[in-house]
Amino acid sequence: MSKKLTYGMVGGALDSMIGEAHRNAISFDGRTKLVTGCFSRSFDKTLKTAKKWGIKKERLYKDYLSMAEEEGKKKKKIDFVVIATPNSSHYEISKAFLEKGINVVCDKPLTTTVAEAEELKKLADEKGLLFCVTYSYIGYPAISKAKEIIDSGKIGDIKFVNVQYIQGWLAKEIEKENKQAQWRLDPNQTGLANTTADIGSHVENMVWYLTGKDYDSICARLDTFGKSRKLEDNSTVMINFKDGSKGLLLMSQIAIGENNNFNFSIFGSEGTLKWYLKESNKLNILYENYTEEIFLDEDEVSGTNIGFIKTYNNFISDLIRKKNGEEINNENCSFQSVNAGLRGMKFIEKCVESSKNASRWVDF
Ligand SMILES: NC(=O)c1ccc[n+]([C@@H]2O[C@H](COP(=O)([O-])OP(=O)(O)OC[C@H]3O[C@@H](n4cnc5c(N)ncnc54)[C@H](O)[C@@H]3O)[C@@H](O)[C@H]2O)c1
Repeated sequence: MSKKLTYGMVGGALDSMIGEAHRNAISFDGRTKLVTGCFSRSFDKTLKTAKKWGIKKERLYKDYLSMAEEEGKKKKKIDFVVIATPNSSHYEISKAFLEKGINVVCDKPLTTTVAEAEELKKLADEKGLLFCVTYSYIGYPAISKAKEIIDSGKIGDIKFVNVQYIQGWLAKEIEKENKQAQWRLDPNQTGLANTTADIGSHVENMVWYLTGKDYDSICARLDTFGKSRKLEDNSTVMINFKDGSKGLLLMSQIAIGENNNFNFSIFGSEGTLKWYLKESNKLNILYENYTEEIFLDEDEVSGTNIGFIKTYNNFISDLIRKKNGEEINNENCSFQSVNAGLRGMKFIEKCVESSKNASRWVDF
């Protein structure tokens, strides 16, 4: 391909948590160029971010609506926009760009309600646009390998799925001084849930990606340990899958001393498959009689940004194939699409419903 794809970005200024991870992963791919943006509500921050990435001033905007309007009018539109703002703005921003015929990459969780997510899916599909949700952990090569192992039948029939994503950064009530903590714990900026949405969305997506199992019912308890908090900082969820298998998920942000401890154990009839983010290039299978098989990907350096890199690599490859006339859509794509984002929103809403009703089991 001679000419690079072009993209724009909303949110993700230099002082954000995740903006540079997106841009670095996209530039690693080498087939795209960042040409426009509204990186912050503060134009000064937009200018600073643009300077680092060499974007012309005439393509910078004070708000995302003007960006969608002006960029949408161009004869040669950007190929996609990346949205890396707090959760409650994902819906409006995605909608503004979809309406202008621009493909979207939006960070998780997709929206704050199922209804908003359904609307975005409908709009993207009607317009024939690709919509990627950056569930970045699915990008780790060991996760593709785990799926291959499960699909091959090597661990037999799955009986039980145990997934944990535990962090300790909200163990103390830091939200007065920490802006990332502040918006995540504010229902107006984050939606119905904190932990269940922020990291539970990754957990739910991992379970779905690996097992493909439909949920029958779930039972959740959302705990709020921070006394001044309106939303949970710890979340435990049990799942009954439709095929009779079961799951237990633990998401916590008050696990003091833990950084990003994402791990799973999947108990099959013939083996237990285990993965741990801190050794992200390694998988273990435990067998009867305590024997063990290890898969180690020597080419992948554990702990790198490989998840984001691979997520963008898949999305950009699909976009190029689509531009070259192939039938690529949000169903048959190789990235996690708006469909995964919608299922994630349903998971969050059901967890909140269960927890609010004395943790009773709710149909999914
Ligand atoms: N995929 C992942 O692994 C991952 C990791 C961390 C965060 N996230 C997601 O990324 C998103 C951003 O999280 P964060 O921690 O980087 O937040 P942050 O608060 O650090 O950054 C948000 C950025 O958006 C900008 N912004 C806010 N409203 C805006 C608007 N209306 N227009 C333009 N810019 C605006 C802010 O100025 C800031 O630069 C969230 O949805 C979060 O869930 C995903």
